[in-house]
Amino acid sequence: MRKIEFFDTTLRDGEQTPGVHFNKKEKVQLALQLENWGIDTIEAGFPIASQGDFEAVQAIARAIKKTTVAALARCQKPDIDRAYEALEDAVSPQIHIFLATSPIHRRDKLKLSKAEILRSIHDHVTYARSLFEIVQFSPEDASRTEKDFLLEAVQTAIDAGATIINIPDTVGFSTPTEYGELFRYLIEHIHSPHPITFSSHCHDDLGMATANALAAIENGANRVEGTVNGIGERAGNTALEEVAVALYIRKDFYQCASNITLAETKNTSDLVSRLSGLHVPKNKAIIGGNAYAHESGIHQDGVLKNPETYEIITPQLVGVATNSLPLGKLSGKHAFSEKIKALGYTKSKEELQELFIQFKALADKKNQLSDYDLHALVSEQIHQE
Ligand code: KIV
Ligand code: ZN
Repeated sequence: MRKIEFFDTTLRDGEQTPGVHFNKKEKVQLALQLENWGIDTIEAGFPIASQGDFEAVQAIARAIKKTTVAALARCQKPDIDRAYEALEDAVSPQIHIFLATSPIHRRDKLKLSKAEILRSIHDHVTYARSLFEIVQFSPEDASRTEKDFLLEAVQTAIDAGATIINIPDTVGFSTPTEYGELFRYLIEHIHSPHPITFSSHCHDDLGMATANALAAIENGANRVEGTVNGIGERAGNTALEEVAVALYIRKDFYQCASNITLAETKNTSDLVSRLSGLHVPKNKAIIGGNAYAHESGIHQDGVLKNPETYEIITPQLVGVATNSLPLGKLSGKHAFSEKIKALGYTKSKEELQELFIQFKALADKKNQLSDYDLHALVSEQIHQE
């Protein structure tokens, strides 16, 4: 099985979520949990951005003992120096340098010609390589860059010593077929005397961040970047828990493995949710509150007979204690009877039938019935006897 490396940027791109701020202590706590989860590289921050970010990256570099710790830098010498200083104590440091390559970024943001972009990539990757063993280069807005120029930019970074090439779909513009083909094209056309790791970095503006990341993997990417719960700028980044579980559940298809300890997924998600203040939507894949809940009678009956009828992921796989069968107006007699039994009552067939009719009448007026509602129904029946 091919090994896919997981690069987590919750502490850098994830912190770019409007309204989210992690303090130094929280960042260290999150980094330790990411290490525990099995992340291969943690992008700890952007040290030149602020003194606070510098100190947080430094604290993470000191606290993390196994995992690689990365820091972001623009193609500017002071950025690279600041990242070097922040990562000085890291057991396994890595720099992540980026420069935009797309026409709109070249013309309107950077005001640089193609030749100037290539020179900057060459000079700054070369400089970074003099300080770091592992250099990652990202051509920002890669998916909106002319293919031939993107190849030139990537080849320039490789020639200057980058060994990891990350291809950002910065504005979530790509489609899975297109993004996958881009990886195939670049991997087929680069020249390198040493192995190059290709990495995906997707944003979710069109809701395709996970699909795009998986398409990149299908087309030769050996590394995936993203965040926990998919937090990040605008619509967010690839949700790493989705990729990790998709690779595991569909290993028949992807033929890939990762170092992620899936049973730590819920703990990791809960911690990010609590410290970021961003609640996970109930219907979110893998870790949403409804991901293992079944309300309709037909589904409940199936799940009670064999959970695999409607569950492709066992909740325990990702650290969720159990599935649930919430009772509402669509629920059936099977789940209702099981619930009454679980609440400690022994009822005859006739009594259960009578209770079920009353339950349906109540459920028509209420969204979901709680244990309290069910106890009330049963005690009403007892009083009528
Ligand atoms: O989305 C993006 O382009 C980025 C880069 C800094 C890699 O986050
Ligand atoms: Zn990004």
